Amino acid sequence: MATATIEDIEMAYSDVGSGPAVVFIHGYPFNRSLWTEQVTALAGTHRAVVPDLRGFGESGSGNMPSTMSRLARDVKLLLDHLHIERALIAGLSMGGYVTLAFQKEFKDRVSGLLLANTRAEQDSDEAKISRREQAEKALTEGMASIADSMLPKLLTPETVSKKPDLVKRIRDMMLKTDPKGAAAALLGMASREDFTTLLPEISVPVLIIAGRDDALIPMRHSERMHQAITDSRLAVIDHAAHVVNLEQAEAFNREMMQFVTQLTSW
Ligand code: MLT
Repeated sequence: MATATIEDIEMAYSDVGSGPAVVFIHGYPFNRSLWTEQVTALAGTHRAVVPDLRGFGESGSGNMPSTMSRLARDVKLLLDHLHIERALIAGLSMGGYVTLAFQKEFKDRVSGLLLANTRAEQDSDEAKISRREQAEKALTEGMASIADSMLPKLLTPETVSKKPDLVKRIRDMMLKTDPKGAAAALLGMASREDFTTLLPEISVPVLIIAGRDDALIPMRHSERMHQAITDSRLAVIDHAAHVVNLEQAEAFNREMMQFVTQLTSW
């Protein structure tokens, strides 16, 4: 692990391999270990940069809230620190919100986008209220109750029964999250802007990946992004719910490798 001083925090990150850069942005409430299988798949051909977003993993927390714009700026400052001019930005779920914020604010630094199980729409009023309740819950009860309520929505029932090691890995990742960091991200997600008007302006190639059985962010959100982004491909992965890159790592990596191999805009 390496660290970089990014404004008010020490940011932990991994930087593996050499070649065109791919930045992986994890979802909520995870950390950079979410992307281990993808980093391994890229080893030998690409440089994988994987930060722990502020408030997650081994990075510092800073002040509330962790807005998507704040998290995107942290990633941009990390790229500056590493002297990376342009990168493919890949984000899952909340990582996708950060990826879209990055595209909006730093599009000259983007060679392509990978948007996995995410959406461009902002939260409904009801969802915003629920985020605030969840933030309060994280701070008062800790991460166990958050993990318990999220777990059934992250994986298909088939995976839950057949892959206990994966279930444990995902649960452990959530339990390790600092409740303050989780609460800051929840408030940040609640206040995020709507990115739907940004989509038609995206001119770099985009790979959209969706787990067919995702109940947290249903597939229709990916279909809408695909319709709105001219140069996009939608890959729907079967037998996968929300954490598609771990649940069906092989299928995910196949799509990812095909995309990075064809990408010429580095
Ligand atoms: C995530 O996986 O990052 C979150 O579930 C996203 C969200 O709650 O909107």
